[in-house]
Amino acid sequence: MIEQTFVAIKPDGVKRKLIGKIISRFEDLDFTLKHAKLMNVSRELAKEHYVEHKDKAFFSDLVAFITSGEIFAMVWEGENAIEITRKIIGSTNCIKADAGTIRGDFGNELQKNIIHASDSLESAKREIKLFFE
Ligand code: CMP
Repeated sequence: MIEQTFVAIKPDGVKRKLIGKIISRFEDLDFTLKHAKLMNVSRELAKEHYVEHKDKAFFSDLVAFITSGEIFAMVWEGENAIEITRKIIGSTNCIKADAGTIRGDFGNELQKNIIHASDSLESAKREIKLFFE
């Protein structure tokens, strides 16, 4: 099934100039970039985006991190884009992420984990709307 998914290169990935390398991985999969923008995330948008984590102990750190610098927000389209994107970004914790995945190859931490991608069709629809409408 052709799907669209929301992907964001986080402030650590932007600062480390990883945008080009990360885009290549999606293009290698023959995915199509539908929307993209470099942007600052307001505290309001960060809280809404991460609402499912609002009761977690790390919530305030999460909001502080995602608002700490520019992110590169994108919408990618392709066959089974949501599941494949989750696979190529790797486990949330970069320390556990497999080599060959984006987090496994570029990250060293749990919170500063380079990239975010929608985890389901519902999240993708919600996040695309939140960042691009
Ligand atoms: P992301 O895929 O953007 O979704 C939620 C984010 O919360 C996750 O990536 C990590 O950056 C962060 N995160 C998840 N678990 C923890 C944790 N235990 N401590 C700190 N940050 C976390």
